[in-house]
Formats: sequence, C-alpha cells, structure tokens
Amino acid sequence: MKEPVLAPSILASDHAQLAESLQTIHSEGLQWVHIDIMDGHFVPNLTFGAQTVAALRKNSDLFFDVHLMLDNPHEYVESFANAGSNLISIHVEPDYPIADTLKQIRELGCKCGIVFNPGTETKAVEPYLKFVDLVLAMTVQPGFGGQSFQHEVLHKISELHAIRSQQSLSFRIEVDGGVDMQTLPLCSEAGADTFVAGTAFFRAEDKQTLISLVS
Ligand code: DX5
Ligand code: ZN
Repeated sequence: MKEPVLAPSILASDHAQLAESLQTIHSEGLQWVHIDIMDGHFVPNLTFGAQTVAALRKNSDLFFDVHLMLDNPHEYVESFANAGSNLISIHVEPDYPIADTLKQIRELGCKCGIVFNPGTETKAVEPYLKFVDLVLAMTVQPGFGGQSFQHEVLHKISELHAIRSQQSLSFRIEVDGGVDMQTLPLCSEAGADTFVAGTAFFRAEDKQTLISLVS
C-alpha cells in the first residue's frame, strides 16, 4: 500500500499569491502540490505555463505534481521538466505518442503519470500501467475546480486497484476533482492513495480535519 498523500491543487487558491499558497501547504505539514496546466484546447480553460512553475520552484521544496491538460503534451514535457516538476502526468485522450512521452518524462528525471477522464474506460490506460509511477482517474471533467464529484468513477478506481494487485505493479492511484470530506473516504475505500483537493483544501476553515482523513 502506498503512503497516502494529499495534494492540494493551487487552481483553487488565490492566483495573485501562488507562492503564499505553496507556503500554506508547507505550513500544514504536506509535501505535495498539484499544479494544473491547461491549454484552452483540450480543456476550455487556461492556467499556468512553465515559467510560472519555474518561479514557484525557486521558493519551494514541495513535490510538484504537474497535471498537463494539453492537446499536445509531448511538445511541452521538456519545458515543464526543466521548470522543476517532480511528476508530470499526461492524458490518454489526445492523439500523440503516449508511450514515448512517458519514457521521455522519465528520461528527463521526473516521475510519470497517465490520466483518464470520467468518460474514458480503464482499458484505455491498461497498456501504460507497467510504465508509470501514477495513474490519475479524473473524478470530474477536467477544466475547472469546484465541480461535483462523479461517483461512477469509483468503479474505475477499484478496477485499477485490482489490476495493480494482480499484476504486482506499484503505481500510485490518484483522484482529482470534487474530492472533499465526504468523497475522499469513498476513494480511499476503492483503492486510491493520492488525493488532489483544491476547493476542499483552500476553502477549508480547518485544513487539518481534511488532512487527518489521509494521514
Ligand atoms: C480540474 C483539475 C483539478 C481541480 C480540482 O481540471 O484537474 O485538479 O483543480 O479542484 P477541486 O478539488 O476544487 O474539484
Ligand atoms: Zn488536476
């Protein structure tokens, strides 16, 4: 069983104070930060570039869990690796050389992850499971924070958990979108060990209550 991790998503934080948001994560005793990169094509929203990641890297020792929501992630993995990402996850839905890109992420010194949307079946990521450090099962349609958790994704988390055990693989199972006090335990029971929380973390009065669900 992987050490459970809570990875706050700075998409839900104050974009005028991103460095302070990382400091908040650190001061709550957490190690990971989830950074959502959006291109306005694969998802209908735009967020940060590699230059922003590099600027945040200068002032933080957190583990940068970088989620690329791009139509053409293979063209950007080098710049995000050079910016200081620790893990780069890429989506299975767009048409590009996925296996080669996962290999390239590792060759650049980062851990690699494969991501699939609520409407994408688990079998779409099966060919890559032997080559990744993390599988991210999106629990909302990507593009925006603050959406409602899609409970039908729970069966896909169980499927991944079963495959991981049967094939003695060691990838992390991450969930992302609408993860909060109510839905996090459901994901954990299904086999997830890595939990992205944007709204639930940055809007929480008492962050330790959410954190206590993961420790
Ligand atoms: C959505 C992003 C998620 C989002 C999660 O496209 O990938 O990481 O920030 O936000 P919450 O936890 O607010 O649903
Ligand atoms: Zn994300």
